[in-house]
Amino acid sequence: MNLKNYVISENKSVVRDDPVVLALLRKELNKAQYKLYAAQRAYVASNFLRLVDKAAHLARALGDEELAAALQANANDEIGMGADGKIHYELNHRQWKTTYLRAIDIDADIDGFPLLPGTRAHVDAFLEIEAGGTVFSMAGAVLSLENIIPLEYRAAVSSRDHLFPEIFCVDAGDSPAARANKQSARRYLDDHIVHDANSHFPMLLHALVKYEDDPAAVAEIRQGIDLVNSYRKRFYQGLAVALRFDEAEMDYFTYGECCEVEGAL
Ligand SMILES: [Fe+2]
Repeated sequence: MNLKNYVISENKSVVRDDPVVLALLRKELNKAQYKLYAAQRAYVASNFLRLVDKAAHLARALGDEELAAALQANANDEIGMGADGKIHYELNHRQWKTTYLRAIDIDADIDGFPLLPGTRAHVDAFLEIEAGGTVFSMAGAVLSLENIIPLEYRAAVSSRDHLFPEIFCVDAGDSPAARANKQSARRYLDDHIVHDANSHFPMLLHALVKYEDDPAAVAEIRQGIDLVNSYRKRFYQGLAVALRFDEAEMDYFTYGECCEVEGAL
């Protein structure tokens, strides 16, 4: 199996067909809908750092230093570890996420934040793989995430900047303080589009392609890739209901039409 082709085509099939992702890309949501999306989306893989950390640990135990290094690089990035080996608060991804959500008046840190059933199912599936997955299933899931996240966030940025330009879009007349606030509010989505696509995904893919001729390893990697895609679908389906997209609207966002208009995905 060609791992690169498989993960890319499977991830694309999730986002290309999904009415919520397409609505984000096409700026079809209103502010309240975007906020519901953003709050739920913030939770889907809330144990991501632990999952990557554990996968790196298992890769080290397996003796695959390349795989361990690829996973560790992602984990280090998450916690804000700079090239100097020190942790920088301003580089911590959780901090970026909080800043992004607070900029649109969402406090996702409050206990008991109401999760939609599809969001809850996604959270639970990731807790399960963290608890009982293998190094390859975890690495497959991380690989899948690193590829699908830029596709998802490109769509989110389209609506974010359309709906909240005064919060996220730097204007020539902005004071230095206003500009800095906007840049830090943008960072969570913007940075993941660039770093996951250009750095983490190719690095992890390179570490995994050497297992392409190992059927047992491939089956587990694929299990991780598929887990992300199936639970992402459930997540977005749950959101579609909550956003009250009716059948007519769902039909409106057809695959062919989207691809013609939006080549990005
Ligand atoms: Fe991150």
